[in-house]
Amino acid sequence: MPVYCITGANRGLGLEFVRQLAKSPDNTIIATTRSMSNDLSDLKAVSSKTTHILECNTADLTSIQSFASETKKTLNGVQIDFLLNNAGVNSVPTQNSLSIGPDDLHREIDINVLGPAKTTEFLIAQDLLPQNVRIMNMTSGLGSMSVGLSIAPRKCATYSISKAGVNMLTVHQSGDLREKLKGVVVICMDPGWVKTRMGGEGAVLEPEVSIGGMLKTVHGLGEGDNGKFYTYTVEEVKW
Ligand SMILES: NC(=O)c1ccc[n+]([C@@H]2O[C@H](COP(=O)([O-])OP(=O)(O)OC[C@H]3O[C@@H](n4cnc5c(N)ncnc54)[C@H](OP(=O)(O)O)[C@@H]3O)[C@@H](O)[C@H]2O)c1
Repeated sequence: MPVYCITGANRGLGLEFVRQLAKSPDNTIIATTRSMSNDLSDLKAVSSKTTHILECNTADLTSIQSFASETKKTLNGVQIDFLLNNAGVNSVPTQNSLSIGPDDLHREIDINVLGPAKTTEFLIAQDLLPQNVRIMNMTSGLGSMSVGLSIAPRKCATYSISKAGVNMLTVHQSGDLREKLKGVVVICMDPGWVKTRMGGEGAVLEPEVSIGGMLKTVHGLGEGDNGKFYTYTVEEVKW
């Protein structure tokens, strides 16, 4: 009876995670949304009887704390096997390194870096992550220095900087969490360029293909994968 926790599950890739996982009645799913006022009709339509929809605004530490407490009550003694830190934003894709808006960068760091950091921290504080938990932090190819150097002209500076941040978060978590959770495996994942609201025009991948590949990757993780950066095609990405 594996338990999955997915942030940003009301649309896009998070919704597709729930759709695929909810097909098995064995899976318990904690599906989170930034606000219960969001349109949750798509999420409810794909949910199973063992899917629980909870509020978690990953830009708001109080909201993440409340979410961790609610999850404790909801799971009632059961722990999370797979934490999928998926929620993210790319709200100012036209900014380059000469036009970064300070507030924009702070907001993207809050959601894309502090969000997964604090979600993980507060779930650990509630004793909701077991020794061998698998944690996936959603990043982007744009968070890779190697990929960034190969793109001309460069694009999405603000977002890329925040995703490079989540990559470094993953490296640190892969060490720090091992001191508390002996068999933990933390990775970051590039989902490819996927047809979602964020993916926008030009995206090439269907969400079902990206998520199918990511679930295969996450399910196949062994202890030696701790701290690695993968694509949805199970290939390692250069930092
Ligand atoms: N699509 C791609 O091509 C692509 C490529 C590389 C990486 N990614 C990454 O994949 C992840 C999912 O992207 P997507 O394509 O599914 O994007 P999306 O369609 O824009 O969906 C983003 C999701 O994140 C949620 N979210 C945003 N801010 C939040 C917050 N403060 N608290 C909680 N949830 C929040 C959104 O909720 P609301 O509806 O409430 O805004 C939504 O559910 C992101 O981390 C993104 O950076 C996507």
